[in-house]
Amino acid sequence: QTITVQANKPGVAIQPTMWGIFFEDINFAADGGLYAEMVKNRSFEFSVPMMAWKEVKREGLKGKTLINNHKTANPANPRYASITVDGQYGLSNEGFRGMGVKQGAAYDFSLWARQASGNVKLRIVLVSPAGEKLGETTLGGLNGEWNKHTASLTATKTEAKAKLEVYFEGNGTVEADMISLFPKDTWKGRPGGLRKDLVEKLAELKPGFIRFPGGCIVEGRDLSNRYQWKKTVGKPEERELIINRWNTEFSHRNAPDYFQTFGLGFFEYFQLAEDLGSTALPILNCGMACQYNTGEVVALDELDPYIQDALDLIEFANGSTATKWGKLRADMGHPAPFNLKYLGIGNEQWDVQYIDRYKLFAEVLEKKHPEIVLVSGSGPGASGKEFDFAWKELKKLNAPLIDEHYYRPPEWFFQNAARYDNYDRKGPKVFAGEYAAHAKEQPQAESRNTWLSALAEAAFMTGLERNADVVHMCSYAPLFAHVEAWQWRPDLIWFDNLQTVATPNYYVQKAYANYAGTNVLPITANGKFLTGQDSLYASAVLDKKAKVAYIKLVNISSQTKNITLDVAGIAANKDTKVETLVASDLYSYNTLEKPKEVYPVSSTAKTQAKGWKNTLAPSSFTVITVPIK
Ligand code: AHR
Repeated sequence: QTITVQANKPGVAIQPTMWGIFFEDINFAADGGLYAEMVKNRSFEFSVPMMAWKEVKREGLKGKTLINNHKTANPANPRYASITVDGQYGLSNEGFRGMGVKQGAAYDFSLWARQASGNVKLRIVLVSPAGEKLGETTLGGLNGEWNKHTASLTATKTEAKAKLEVYFEGNGTVEADMISLFPKDTWKGRPGGLRKDLVEKLAELKPGFIRFPGGCIVEGRDLSNRYQWKKTVGKPEERELIINRWNTEFSHRNAPDYFQTFGLGFFEYFQLAEDLGSTALPILNCGMACQYNTGEVVALDELDPYIQDALDLIEFANGSTATKWGKLRADMGHPAPFNLKYLGIGNEQWDVQYIDRYKLFAEVLEKKHPEIVLVSGSGPGASGKEFDFAWKELKKLNAPLIDEHYYRPPEWFFQNAARYDNYDRKGPKVFAGEYAAHAKEQPQAESRNTWLSALAEAAFMTGLERNADVVHMCSYAPLFAHVEAWQWRPDLIWFDNLQTVATPNYYVQKAYANYAGTNVLPITANGKFLTGQDSLYASAVLDKKAKVAYIKLVNISSQTKNITLDVAGIAANKDTKVETLVASDLYSYNTLEKPKEVYPVSSTAKTQAKGWKNTLAPSSFTVITVPIK
């Protein structure tokens, strides 16, 4: 098989946003995951106020906890604990399926508290499930005013399932709220920040954009539980918590303790996007709750507050510090604008109710903010395609960028690598905003992320890349999952309280994003694109600045393929890199215990202008870096 690449004929430009990430607080991705808070229900605002908290039962401990509700003092966070102690009394917090602590690492404890009566000091202890002490510190100096108090402690042992015990010692009553524990070593060392190892996994992807905050949580089960960005900014202790839409009651996916504290809110999302050099893509509720749940919609004549939220968000991100929302951004530590360019209206909505509401958003936003590119939805499934209702209507409205979602079996991905070849070049552009190949269920959490599913995505993505004039953004979904607290799988990155593991699918995404290029190059065999003929898929891009081409080749057969590459414009006789992803078995997957079952391997090769022989391993994905003259 001879494959021809015209590296001397750079084609359409590839958007810098082409390969990005989709973030949603599902599977403990934010609370219990990326947001490094280790105390669950720190502000006693879960629907059961003492959820995750227990009195320490031990001889000699004497006291009681009362939950007070004081709405006028703090409407967003009205509850606090009133702890009365007679000698010594303790409360323990279970964390998010335990707390992961590392030997020698420091942890920041804090709480808001006041001494209501008497004189009480605090002793803070990390303990193992067997009751072994893993670190300790003390905290005093409470007085009659509500203040934030801090103390730090160091773990003496590594333990994935530690818990926190807070002892109150003395006589009297302490009122306490926002009882919190964070690792000191967060991403960029920010106090109260993000889990470093998880952000590092994202940084390695070099994502072109970050879509946040979801997903279905944008919509909420009903409108009262929709995501409202204004409630996620400002001081963490004044952000109003809500139940997570993924707080489910199904068997092992059970997460009745899943709430959104919004410690990771819109400011932090923008900051993360900036840290990673990614374009921020916030998605806002369009006046509709999840169509799979209540399907509640706001009356059209009451949509204004939703549209105002969009206008205010643009002001928060880009406005001068003299504006109300621009000032809040500055007060939170970021006077410079975040340079927002894209805004999503609604998630995964598709019928006439959606079009009616999108129209009203677009009318206002296009007039007031023509600089912002609006992203609209088109629904779920393999549809959400050009000929569907939402697509047709959005096209009439000149919608610039339409979000398509497809969670389908691997075979569908193999068969649809040409999906975008015939899309109207003059119509709206595509955001492949949520996709993943869904293989059969298996018991272990990480086991649906098989090599087969990743191979199917690699094959399909050649078609996304080849059509980069139409496809401007793509993201696998969902992004994160805690091995003990997931509601949906497969997912791109798995983690527990101490470790993370990248899936085979992650390595596919990483190869595309790290070898993204600037222009599409023609790549053919017998004059045709490779979209599965003879079990081969291929795409190629040029990186104008680096003066290299990246050729991506997917062999889905169980046989080795010998191919000959003819690359016009190649710098011949140079050493170059060949990176291959391959596995011993199509059903191999990575786990926390065995993270490298499917892992990229690199080798070197010598370039040749014509007749350059290469072999493609059975069921493999290969990226060849080609220096260009
Ligand atoms: O990614 C999981 C869910 O799939 C998203 O929340 C939703 O948009 C889609 O249905």
